[in-house]
Amino acid sequence: MVFKKRILLGVISALVAGGGLLGCADQVEDQVADQQSESVHPHWPALTSGIAKDPEIESRIDALLEKMSLEEKIGQMIQVEIRFATPDEVREYHIGSILNGGGAFPNNNKHASVADWVALADEYYRASVDTSDGGVAIPMIWGTDAVHGHNNVIGATLFPHNIALGAAQNPALMRKIGEATAAEVSATGIEWVFAPTLAVVRDDRWGRTYESYSEDPELVRAYAGELVQGMQGAPGDQELLNGKRVVGTAKHYIADGGTENGIDRGDAIMSEADLIKYHAQGYFSAIEAGVQTVMASFSSWNGEKMHGHKYLMTDVLKERLGFDGFVVGDWAGHQFVNGCSNVSCPQAVNAGLDMFMAPDPNWRELYKNTLAEAKSGEISPARLDDAVRRILRVKLRAGLFEAGLPSTRPHAGDESLIGAAEHRAIARQAVRESLVLLKNNDQLLPLARNQRVLVAGDGADNIGKQSGGWSITWQGTGNENADFPGATSVYGGINEVVAAAGGQVELSVDGSFEEKPDVAVVVFGEDPYAEMQGDIANVNYAGASDLALLKKLRDQGIPVVSLFITGRPLWVNPHINASDAFAVIWLPGTEAGGVADVLFQDEAGNVNFDFTGKLTFSWPGDATPALHNRGESDAAAQFAYGYGLSYGEGMELALLSEESGLQPVSGNGTLAVFNGRALDPWSFEVIDATNTRSTIASSVSELNGIRVQSVDRNVQEDSRRLQWNGQGNAIAGFFANQRTDLSGFVSNQGALIFDVKVDAAPSDAVILGMNCGMDCGAEQPITDLLKGAAQGEWQTLAVDLKCLAEAGGKMDLVLSPFYVRTAGELDMTVHNVRIAQTGAAKVSCG
Ligand code: BGC
Ligand code: BGC
Repeated sequence: MVFKKRILLGVISALVAGGGLLGCADQVEDQVADQQSESVHPHWPALTSGIAKDPEIESRIDALLEKMSLEEKIGQMIQVEIRFATPDEVREYHIGSILNGGGAFPNNNKHASVADWVALADEYYRASVDTSDGGVAIPMIWGTDAVHGHNNVIGATLFPHNIALGAAQNPALMRKIGEATAAEVSATGIEWVFAPTLAVVRDDRWGRTYESYSEDPELVRAYAGELVQGMQGAPGDQELLNGKRVVGTAKHYIADGGTENGIDRGDAIMSEADLIKYHAQGYFSAIEAGVQTVMASFSSWNGEKMHGHKYLMTDVLKERLGFDGFVVGDWAGHQFVNGCSNVSCPQAVNAGLDMFMAPDPNWRELYKNTLAEAKSGEISPARLDDAVRRILRVKLRAGLFEAGLPSTRPHAGDESLIGAAEHRAIARQAVRESLVLLKNNDQLLPLARNQRVLVAGDGADNIGKQSGGWSITWQGTGNENADFPGATSVYGGINEVVAAAGGQVELSVDGSFEEKPDVAVVVFGEDPYAEMQGDIANVNYAGASDLALLKKLRDQGIPVVSLFITGRPLWVNPHINASDAFAVIWLPGTEAGGVADVLFQDEAGNVNFDFTGKLTFSWPGDATPALHNRGESDAAAQFAYGYGLSYGEGMELALLSEESGLQPVSGNGTLAVFNGRALDPWSFEVIDATNTRSTIASSVSELNGIRVQSVDRNVQEDSRRLQWNGQGNAIAGFFANQRTDLSGFVSNQGALIFDVKVDAAPSDAVILGMNCGMDCGAEQPITDLLKGAAQGEWQTLAVDLKCLAEAGGKMDLVLSPFYVRTAGELDMTVHNVRIAQTGAAKVSCG
């Protein structure tokens, strides 16, 4: 049940995020059709993959394709997740690939050993090459999210997240990181990594901003190829995909970082020229470096989901850009394509998706349906063979047919590679180079070692916090220091240098101390988050208790150094003002000893390592959601792209403005959502029973499972009649491409209120919901209320916002304040939807 609800929320979220069709869905489709019939846009370069086609491999593929049954071919195109498919099922269905999602481990054991990982790889491998049923032996390929080191594995080296690596501005370092990551991944018997992320994030409210190297495409392009070559080995080199290396993934194709308002899985609305200029650059160098897989993005381009985008996946990527590896989907992302569901999406295959990521128990259904679609010709034999050919090509290039059991491969089982000293040294270098110094008044830094140092703040000795999302667990939550053996916290690094020099360190999260320190280093900032859960409404860093701590220390005459842990630029002016020195340390990962390397002088009292990190994201001057990006709209940046102090610059930073620019959130009066028409920013949209979404602009719309008509109550067309016919689940409601903050209403007895008239009572459950993004929202059944309503009579229903908040709705991030869904029959008319105070909530919570 819970699972089902999550899927529905997901579908709704996709509508929200991909929303803003603005009544021109058809227009967008026409445009795409035009593009397909024409040649591709001239700004796309004609590229060739860094790894040339090998005639011998191609003829081996021919021979394999000849022998494979249709069932075996479909199996190659389905990637299953280790929590939802056993090795036996891999054998039975001839599954071509497995993955472990964020926070998924062998035997569901977070502390699984290297041997456990390898043993599981062996089991799946054996199943994949088992020919006892007369089939062809095709080794499976295992993919994992080693996005900052092998981050699902206990004891692995966790490199700083990409935003920090960007600040280091050192492309050559990316190659070293890629190679070290490949070594740790191959030690666990895994062959494929879902990295690098090549997002060029334009709106930093996106919860995946830290997975991006820069808001500037130039740097992303400079990094992408280097990281790919580090992971896979360089084309022409003996090491290329030789078993000590892994297959890389350029993701998420394309414009994942360009969605409106930074909404996860949202819609990137822009011209093709801008798409190429900003969001494609990383792919160019990745392809030239020979990247072997590309992951489709959850997001849309001008309203069309990438998983179904033939022009961009096939005409551009595979034809113009010369990409001859395979395209993998992202976490059942095919389900959001118009007309598709989680278990059926020939549209995606026909558009160019080669491998479905099918990470839930429904993969069996997807397999069956895809098989049927191949049999019926809905997926053409040519497309099918092309998809399988690409998958086999990558497996052959990676030497998987010759590699044998995972446990017998060069690095397999070598525990010494996990968190190896050389890898940690690379990570520590990356930390040192990524730190960005924003303020250093009176040249407080670098600090002498032999002083009395207070280390405070909740990030001081908190390796989970300093590592961020995608760290052991998916969201990076629920970890303790013991989950990171061999790691060094910020405090740990400071303690090492100071203690060795005869100074004294006191660790005290709340800043209280036994003896007055000479200096305080306060480590604070964002708590871990990852995709979906990390989106925010504005770039304010609230951190009131951190601010109080800084002020308390300063009031006692103690010089304060602030170290800010963050996955994105946030407005933090009050904290900067309350500090003598302020450095952004991003999400440094497990080797935070690199922080002390820079913060403290060497033993002789000279600069040990200087600050060399520069902002590769412009830093905001207030907390409003205005965009700040290099070269444009960056006038209001507090610290421009490229900013970052070095020692000895002697720059005194004057007090910064403490005007956040945010308007107090109103919780009074009435906020109209619909009064005859949908009010800004919302539009009235429907996802019909075939999972096709549309913005309702005409007065009568006949859709699958639902009919929508404008009707009169008091004045002409002031209401909407919604008639569900029981032919499948359909959703109708008000959706936006931007967030609305309703939190003021929550604390002020606010309610969602609407008038409704029931003409035919529901035959099945009816759900009223609000949505705040992917997997974010609250739903309440209103079935009984509608059933009990006097037929044909208007009544007013209300639901307390507090109740929606308690049910999981983030009321400051509202995308849809109101939708209704049912799979049954229902005839009801809705009038006047608004947010206002009421004492009369009719929809009860729970
Ligand atoms: C993320 C991808 C990731 C995949 C597998 C998705 O939700 O968007 O970046 O590779 O999950 O965990
Ligand atoms: C899973 C993670 C996965 C993520 C991708 C979560 O529900 O537990 O393993 O990476 O979804 O979206």
